[in-house]
Amino acid sequence: MATKLTSNGQVTAPNPISGPDCPAWAQLSAAAPVALARTTRELFAGDPERFAHCSVQAVGLLFDYSRQRVTPKLLEVFAQLADQLRLRERIAAMFRGDAINVTEDRSVLHTALRRTGQSAGSGAPLIVGGQDIDALVRAERERMLAFAEAVRSGVVYSSSDQPFSLVINIGIGGSDLGPAMAVEALRQYAGAGPRVAFVSNVDGCQLADLLVGADPARTLFIICSKTFTTLETRTNALAARAWLQSKLGEAAVPAHFAAVSVNAKAMDEFGVHPDYRFAIWDWVGGRYSIWSSIGVSLAIAIGRANFVSFLDGAAAMDRHFQDAPWLQNLPVLAAMLGVWNVNFLELPTLAVLPYDHRLSRFSAYLQQLEMESNGKSVRLDGSPVPMATCPVIWGEPGNNAQHSFFQLLHQGSARAALDFLLPVRSSCDSQPQQDLAIANCLAQAEAFAFGQSAEVVAADLRRQGLAPARMAELLPHKVHQGNRPSTLIMFPRLDPATLGKLIALYEHKVLVQSVVWGINAFDQWGVELGKKLCDTIVPLVQQPATASGISSSLRGALDFVARERR
Ligand code: F6P
Repeated sequence: MATKLTSNGQVTAPNPISGPDCPAWAQLSAAAPVALARTTRELFAGDPERFAHCSVQAVGLLFDYSRQRVTPKLLEVFAQLADQLRLRERIAAMFRGDAINVTEDRSVLHTALRRTGQSAGSGAPLIVGGQDIDALVRAERERMLAFAEAVRSGVVYSSSDQPFSLVINIGIGGSDLGPAMAVEALRQYAGAGPRVAFVSNVDGCQLADLLVGADPARTLFIICSKTFTTLETRTNALAARAWLQSKLGEAAVPAHFAAVSVNAKAMDEFGVHPDYRFAIWDWVGGRYSIWSSIGVSLAIAIGRANFVSFLDGAAAMDRHFQDAPWLQNLPVLAAMLGVWNVNFLELPTLAVLPYDHRLSRFSAYLQQLEMESNGKSVRLDGSPVPMATCPVIWGEPGNNAQHSFFQLLHQGSARAALDFLLPVRSSCDSQPQQDLAIANCLAQAEAFAFGQSAEVVAADLRRQGLAPARMAELLPHKVHQGNRPSTLIMFPRLDPATLGKLIALYEHKVLVQSVVWGINAFDQWGVELGKKLCDTIVPLVQQPATASGISSSLRGALDFVARERR
């Protein structure tokens, strides 16, 4: 732990670099065995008002953590941890544009992208490095929304003066997952605009499948790539261009391609028309970029008013995150519960389980958001993190999951923490069916928490009139231990504002956890090595015989490629 001297030689308070440097961490360590020894059933029995004590309603969401293996007293220790880590200062530093992404020397300002209406109107303008960020964002957002509205309403025409009926977003990672997830989530708000589809994978199959039956004269491609150098996106963009050119001729190409990037030169080279290109900035991380022009396909899908409402939802969560006390603060609670589960209860994964099929891509979205952000094991000062960091995030729509992997979660040896996401209203006007989804979700949350004891199983088997020997055989197979911790996040309906809130909730959770673990949540050096190696392997795959000085495994794979190609 670093201790600082001021200029007059006085010792200032030590500057903790991660959770274990704080006094509260030792208290949490001491509390863990006690918590593990208490069942969830005992926690509820010991506090008849547990739901009231362990749930928060804020920003239109119900955040119920009563089925987690915590007590209100333990949460107070986490609040102390937040203070000891000077979390308030760290949050403020991000919002005011300090270069908190230290390895890339960049500000982290995705929150500036959603300072619209209510949130931008109040307070001082955001000036960073002498630039009026609000003005920059507002101008580019206006251009993007005007373009999106025009495409949506058929005012922007194709090369043959027809409105577009198909919009294909070409991008990967943060330039794909956010818009793809949100377009699906908000399908109910799509109205009569063009169909919006997504292509990310380099193998070309998604694009090929989409182009079967597509009308080139009515197809618009949007190339989304912050860098415009990403192999997958460049490959798909060139393939799309070749297809379009082969169908309509070279002169038609510019009217069918828009792009979003920081790389103006690359957009020039590709031939993107100046009116059809939109800027983002270095201070928008790819996985935090849905709020920027990277969200243009979403804006086309749901229209201007809904897109602004999506931004406003996130801005409401931003204000809550900045202002709410720790124990009422949803992102902070989500983060601290996650730390408790990973570092103290040693649960290495988090399953995210939406009970709304429209959120079927939400866990894939969170995989990048959380794992690319906090999948690190080195602290800001370069020292190793002395504990586990980001858990593996995974998940599926809850009802489907019930009929596949829930068996393992209920009775298997691998343990996971769970987040249930549950809208009250149907996302497709099928309320009686959504009521069944609600019942399923609540039933699962209860089953994971309380399980089914041997006594209950025995009574049940006895009622069925089973012979004692058969009962003894079956009983151990039917016991559910329970004590699987979960958080239930409920909301009135999955509308644009709510989706904005949910994403921002998880974004800020990531920031808080990065502060606890002492890591930089905003770089992603771990994805670079594979990209670099791929550049050297591409020519070897194309001409396998030329390879030398490579591992025997690589040699074996290339030989197999060569043999199969003959
Ligand atoms: O795979 C890593 C990554 O750099 C992500 O962080 C990013 O979202 C994605 O690639 C796509 O990058 P780009 O938008 O520059 O094409």
